[in-house]
Amino acid sequence: MEEKIKKIKSQIAEQLKSIKDKNSLEDVRIKFLGKKGEVTELLKEFKDLPKEEKPKFGKALNELKNEIENSIKERETKLKAEEISKKLEEEKIDVTLPSKKIIRGSKHPLTRVIEEIEDLFVSMGYDVCSGPELETDEFCFERLNLPKGHPARDMQDTFYITTEYLLRTQTSAVQAHTMMDNKEKGPIREIVPGKTYRREDDATHSHQFNQVEGLVVDKDISFADLKGTLEIFMKHMLGPNTELRFRPSYFPFTEPSYEVDVSCFKCGGKGCNLCKHTGWIELLGAGIVHPNVLRMNGYDPDVYSGFAFGTGLDRLAMFKYEITDIRLLYSNDVRFLEQFDRKDI
Ligand code: DAH
Repeated sequence: MEEKIKKIKSQIAEQLKSIKDKNSLEDVRIKFLGKKGEVTELLKEFKDLPKEEKPKFGKALNELKNEIENSIKERETKLKAEEISKKLEEEKIDVTLPSKKIIRGSKHPLTRVIEEIEDLFVSMGYDVCSGPELETDEFCFERLNLPKGHPARDMQDTFYITTEYLLRTQTSAVQAHTMMDNKEKGPIREIVPGKTYRREDDATHSHQFNQVEGLVVDKDISFADLKGTLEIFMKHMLGPNTELRFRPSYFPFTEPSYEVDVSCFKCGGKGCNLCKHTGWIELLGAGIVHPNVLRMNGYDPDVYSGFAFGTGLDRLAMFKYEITDIRLLYSNDVRFLEQFDRKDI
C-alpha cells in the first residue's frame, strides 16, 4: 500500500504539470478521485487491511486525498489566471490606430424650416398646436365659412374617405378646433405646422405636403398686426432685406384676404430664374378672420377680431434652399439629404 501511495503521488504531480485546460484537469480528477479512481480503489483495499495497519494507512490515505484535491484546486486557479491573461493579450487594442469615421445624420430641410419657424413664433408668445390629419368636412370647410357646394372648394382637390371624413387639405382646419376648444373664449396666438393632402402631383406639388397656419384672435387686432408679423416672419426666414407685397385675393375664411409675395432673395427683386424674372415669389395666403368664422366657432365678432395666414412649408424650403423638385424632399436620397449637414445653411 505504501508503494501505491507513493506511486500515485508522483503520478499526480507529473500529470498536473502537463494539464492545458479544464477538461483534462477533470480527467485527472476522475482518474484518481472518481468512483473507479485509483484513490477510491485504494480506499476499498484499505477495508481488507489487518487491523494494526489501519490507523497508519488511514491517515496516509486521508492525507493523499486532501493533497490531490488541493493540487487540483491550485491548478484550476492557475488555469483560470492563465486564461484571463491570454484573453487580455488577444484583445489588446492599438490605441494609436486611426478611428472609424462616425457617419452622423443630418436634419431634413423641412425639419429645419419647421424648427426655425417654431423657435421664432414661440419667442413671440405663440403656442405650437396640432390637429387631426384625418379631418371632418365640418372642420376643414364648413366651420371656415365654406359650406357644402361652395365653389371655393374646387381650389382644393380633396381626398374624401367618406362623405364626412377627408384628409385635411389645409392646416386652417385647426383654427376651428382651437376656437371651439378655448372654453374661456380668450385670446389665441397659435401656429400649426403639419401635413396636408391634395390630389396633385408634379415637380412643385405633392399629394402630401406641409403647411404652417398662423392664427391670432384678440381685441383690436388689425391688418397692421398681420403685416408686422409676416414681415418679421419672412425677414427671419429669408434675410433682413426681404420685402413683402400684399395683393388682394379671396379666401372664404378671411375678409379682406391677401396673397402675399416676397421679394426674391436671390436677385433682390431684379429678376432671375428663381423668381421667373418677376422679382417676386408668392408665398403666403393671409387675411383678417371673417366674422362668420369667429361667430361659428364661439367668438363674438363685435368684441374680437383676428388675423390668419398660411404657407406651404415645402415651397418655403424649396425657395430657401433652391430645391427645384418637391419630390426630392420625399425620396430620402442620402446624396440629397447630406447636403444639409452643413452648419451654415
Ligand atoms: N389655407 C389656405 C390654403 O391652403 C391658406 C391660407 C389663406 C391660410 C389665408 C390662412 C389664410 O389662414 O388666412 O390655400
